[in-house]
Amino acid sequence: MVYDDSLSFVYFGPTKIIFGSGSSTSELESEMSALGCSRALVVTDQGIIKAGLSEKIIKTLGEKCVGIFSDVPQDTGIDVVNRGAAFAREKGADIVISIGGGSVIDTAKCICILLTEGGSLANYEGIQLLTRPQTPHIVIPTTAGTGSEVTWIAVVYDKDKGQKILIVESYNAPRAAILDPQLTLGLPPLLTASTGMDAMTHAIEAMTSMQREPIADAMALHAIRLLSNYLPVCIKDGGNIRARGQVQMAATMAGWAFGNAMVGLVHAMAHSIGAVARVPHGVSCGIMLPYCMDYNIGDGEPETVAIYAAIAQALGVSKRDDEPGNAAMAAVQEIFDLLRKIGHPLKLSELGVTEEDIIKAADLSIADGAIVNNIRYVTGKDEVLEIYRRAL
Ligand SMILES: [Fe+2]
Repeated sequence: MVYDDSLSFVYFGPTKIIFGSGSSTSELESEMSALGCSRALVVTDQGIIKAGLSEKIIKTLGEKCVGIFSDVPQDTGIDVVNRGAAFAREKGADIVISIGGGSVIDTAKCICILLTEGGSLANYEGIQLLTRPQTPHIVIPTTAGTGSEVTWIAVVYDKDKGQKILIVESYNAPRAAILDPQLTLGLPPLLTASTGMDAMTHAIEAMTSMQREPIADAMALHAIRLLSNYLPVCIKDGGNIRARGQVQMAATMAGWAFGNAMVGLVHAMAHSIGAVARVPHGVSCGIMLPYCMDYNIGDGEPETVAIYAAIAQALGVSKRDDEPGNAAMAAVQEIFDLLRKIGHPLKLSELGVTEEDIIKAADLSIADGAIVNNIRYVTGKDEVLEIYRRAL
């Protein structure tokens, strides 16, 4: 990847990472103290509580845990955040600790805003409206894929508008993320595969975004290496803590990569088919990824081909001197092979998606903000529909 003299960018990754088996209990109190906090609101969901993942952490906090807010659904909303913030105020919390996946983490990010700024969350819809640090937030992720533990974007459903709103704030970036691979040991194979492919998509799309830059590239390339090596191990042997840890770190690095460089066509199409046919985000990303890679390479731009050739090297299917066009296509093939290896669905029809669904989703994709960052300019909805048809 070659950048010319016009390159200019900002890389922002302020979240402190604490990694290690057992770190969610051994390191939490000292991280809280380092932030000068002593009254934690724990934000989690019912699934995490039932799986027993939060129990030890809450026990470790003892009296420093002033309340547990576990009323977070799969897709969080403004009403959920309002309830959580009211509860946190009532308990006098001075820090929020989230234990969970993307929805829990986004809820916690928004509770932190309301605790500091007051008012309604709808006032903060948009980009960079906050001017000061927010209530501290420590994330303890229980999945490995969203990268939300290091990004500063929160997505919440606004019932009144009937749509998801985006809150994009540097001050949303969590202060610390404690990555404890023990918490991901029980993730079932399909969820491991789909969240892992979400991370793979973040890494590959960050490198093929119009906002790509060298630091994000470095994060993305290593995330691709780790995911291609260790995701299949996690599927074969879910209890392999070393492999789980490697995938967790890869998801965080991919989060940094796309948090800075953004995502592209795969995410535009995954968001849209998710909204129309309720296909889970990671699954739709995994299915669409190789088809969108093939589409991007299709315009024959030498720079695009060179990037995919570098991705092929990270995937371990090409050497430095290979002809770039062949290497790029080997990367596409390898993603198909990886999907098969990890038992991930290969076609949208396996999820019950119909021709009618993809027609609606093609319209939405064109209006999705992610599409503007795609390395190949998408000329219209017919092109998108053609890609959906191939993946159906
Ligand atoms: Fe994603």
